[in-house]
Amino acid sequence: MSIIYDAQNKTFKLDTKTSSYIIKVYDENYLLNLYYGAPIPETYISGREMRRPNASFSLANPVIGEHGFTPDTAPMEYGCNGAGDFRISALSVRNANGDSVTDIRYVGHKIYAGKPQIPGQPSTYVNDASEADTLEIYAEDKVTGVRVTLYYTVFSTCGVMTRRARVENTSSCECEIERVFSLCVDLPTMDYDMITLYGRHCRERDAERRPLAHGLQGAESKRGVSSHAQNPFVALAEHGADERHGDVYGFNLVYSGNFSALAECDFNGTTRLIMGINPVDFGWKLAPGEYFDAPEAVMVFTEEGIGEMSRIFHRFYNSNLIRGRWKTEKRPLLINSWEAAYFDFDTEKLVAFAKEAKKLGIEMLVMDDGWFGKRNDDTTSLGDWFVNEEKLPGGLAPLIERVNAEGLKFGIWYEPEMISPESELFKAHPDWHVHVDGRVPMLGRHQYVLDVSREDVRENIWQQMYEVLSRNKIDYIKWDFNRNISDAGSALLPADRKKEFFHRFILGTYDLMNRLVTTFPDILFENCSGGGGRFDPAMLYYSPQIWASDNTDPIERLYIQFGTSMCYPASSMGAHVSACSRTGYETKGNVALWGTFGYELDPRKLTAEEAEIVKKQVAEYHDSYDLIHYGDLYRLVSPFDNPYRAIWQFVSPKKDRFMVTLVTMRRQADKKVIVKLQGLDPDKRYRNETTGEVCSGAWLMKAGLVLGYAAYESGESCVVYFSEV
Ligand code: GLA
Repeated sequence: MSIIYDAQNKTFKLDTKTSSYIIKVYDENYLLNLYYGAPIPETYISGREMRRPNASFSLANPVIGEHGFTPDTAPMEYGCNGAGDFRISALSVRNANGDSVTDIRYVGHKIYAGKPQIPGQPSTYVNDASEADTLEIYAEDKVTGVRVTLYYTVFSTCGVMTRRARVENTSSCECEIERVFSLCVDLPTMDYDMITLYGRHCRERDAERRPLAHGLQGAESKRGVSSHAQNPFVALAEHGADERHGDVYGFNLVYSGNFSALAECDFNGTTRLIMGINPVDFGWKLAPGEYFDAPEAVMVFTEEGIGEMSRIFHRFYNSNLIRGRWKTEKRPLLINSWEAAYFDFDTEKLVAFAKEAKKLGIEMLVMDDGWFGKRNDDTTSLGDWFVNEEKLPGGLAPLIERVNAEGLKFGIWYEPEMISPESELFKAHPDWHVHVDGRVPMLGRHQYVLDVSREDVRENIWQQMYEVLSRNKIDYIKWDFNRNISDAGSALLPADRKKEFFHRFILGTYDLMNRLVTTFPDILFENCSGGGGRFDPAMLYYSPQIWASDNTDPIERLYIQFGTSMCYPASSMGAHVSACSRTGYETKGNVALWGTFGYELDPRKLTAEEAEIVKKQVAEYHDSYDLIHYGDLYRLVSPFDNPYRAIWQFVSPKKDRFMVTLVTMRRQADKKVIVKLQGLDPDKRYRNETTGEVCSGAWLMKAGLVLGYAAYESGESCVVYFSEV
């Protein structure tokens, strides 16, 4: 068992292969965190309960006495609001008296093999109960009757723990949750740098690193989705930690809505990190007997640097988050019509794309935005999910038949959670969009957001989608979401429940997506939100891949892909070769290979020379698929650190094959680059698949690989493959 209860010390010990975590039931049943860090053998460590007590007007619990313990500075396992702990709280519940003092104490626990799922919400899962153990700690506020279950699941061999909380109203009166976080971690120092992923449309997930400072810092979204602006990921890396060395904590929230990930460093120089639903614009009423489930947070600790933290996330998401047929089955290589045609296409053009694509070895044609209602630009028709027969005479069936006859599969685009003011749906239901009475709602890309927190709205959209999907042979769906949510209100929610809207909206989205993947389990599903505006673990639970960015310039993509890889695996990163860039096709391909790979261009416009390059890329895609999708990523030289070049490496799980890619962003000063490789077996001998040269893993990791002659100028790149002799 990876979870032990030490009855003598009243401690819980949770062990993964890379971390230990110790919780103590202290006097008066306060729950404290004694340790989270590198593996240690003890089930108890002394001296942590009363961390630098009474340092600054801190308060004492009179039953325990003023002998040192105070909730103000103690490492609280799940800090609550208003009862002597003045740091940012994980939980605040307003009770029937109207106050928000919340004070939960341990009442019991349960340890078992396996992991329960969260009803109606995405989460990581066990393939087999033996993969993980779960601890449920029960804690109660005796005054208000609020009961909390803290869930901890330990995926020991993965180096991962997951956490979440359930809040239950066991009293006879209504109460309201004001804030409920999924995790709270109290660390004894603030000697860390915080790494977050910030961005915007076409510049997603830039990795930003800064030392923790006293006070609050972190990442948040109030946009209704996880967003381009900040990702629900935070790492704390000890000062000086790099890709290969140092203590690193990684935290990622399995949630697609408004989130908050905050660290507070107090006057004692300790750090509290909380992660969960953003309490701004949130509230949740609980009638007697009702409960609320906060989403799941994933936690990783390693002593082996930021690179290993990322690899732990990657392996874990590939095995315990991504689901369904396409988790393990090779995904078809696609060409998407968007950048090739935008809204300007018809059956003949699409069939012509398919014909040409087939010659290049491409396996699926995706018809992007513009096939439905009267959609000839982005001003109309969202919500009218019936075929535009002016573009596609006879509907989808004849088109799909012809695309299939060319030997290609067929995919389609949807944006189910949106409505255009100029649409049949809006005429029929002018109150179905997200809005509040009396205000003119904001427009984004000429569209409103559809209120999918409502069951009747979801049912309408689902019926429209079902009509298309059940009658046609659709192999793939791109599910888009092209604006953020303002004017948050739902016509059906009473005034005292309006704050529930944002979370209810997300639950509605999950419900629709779940219906899709369970009714049509064979459809490959790719998520998208104006590129990568909803790139989060919750979406990965439904769709194994997510379009990483609308920016397909390969140099820009380096930053996006390096940042995204902080916690998301290559198998999930939608990456395509497009026509819109001055950089050559070789480099476009070498960069896009890192992700799910595909094309975003008019194949008829390729020159003969470009078409030959594409054919070679297609062959390389097949050859390197397993290495990239299931291999380990090493970020050897990051564009965030080096203005000249980016270098990365994929190593197969058996360490019997690897590839190294170099992209030059700025003309090199020196014509050669020597890079020390990582993750190889030092005793194995590897052959360069192009030159035949053989050298040991030790050589390549200690002396380094000489690269770069072929990638001297900016925009040039090279890839080398090695396999075990
Ligand atoms: C978003 C997506 C694009 C494309 C367009 C269509 O911007 O990111 O890839 O699908 O919508 O309108």
